Amino acid sequence: MRRMRAAPALAAPALSAPALARVAALLCALAAALMGPLLPCPAGAVEGRPPPGAAACTGCHAAGAAMGPLAGRPEAEIVAALADYRSGARPASVMNRIAKGFTEGESRAIAAYFAQIGPER
Ligand code: HEC
Repeated sequence: MRRMRAAPALAAPALSAPALARVAALLCALAAALMGPLLPCPAGAVEGRPPPGAAACTGCHAAGAAMGPLAGRPEAEIVAALADYRSGARPASVMNRIAKGFTEGESRAIAAYFAQIGPER
C-alpha cells in the first residue's frame, strides 16, 4: 500500500528560530501589558528593536554623550537604578523624573534591551 504523503501545510518549513523568538517576545510583552510586572518576560523586548522609551535614553547615555552608555550594562543594575530614582532613594537631577515615566515592567524591558545589545553599539 502506498504511504500517505504529509499534507503540504505540515511539510512546510517551521518558523525560523529568530522569528519564533520574536513571536514569543511579542506574546510575552502583550501578556505583561495585561498582567503588569507579575509576568517576567525573558528579554522583554522584541530582539533587535528598542522597546518603547529606550530610544529616549541614548540622547544622554551614549559614547560621547553627557552620560556614559547604557549599552552592555547589566540588566539588574539598570533596573535597580531606575527603581531607586523612581522611589527617590537615589538622588537625581533628571533621572527621578524620567524613571517615573516608566513602569517596573517597562524599565525591565529597557534594561534588558541595553544589556543585550552589548557595549560595542
Ligand atoms: C536628559 C538626559 C537623560 C536622559 C534622557 C536619560 N538619562 Fe539617565 N541619567 C542622566 C543623568 C544626568 C544621570 C545622573 C543622575 C541625575 O542627576 O539624574 C543619569 C543616570 C542614570 C543611571 C545611573 C547611572 C550610574 O552609573 O549610576 C541609569 C541606569 C540611567 N540614567 C538610565 C537611564 C535610562 C534607562 C534612560 C531612558 C529611559 C535614561 N537614563 C535617560 C541623564 C539622562
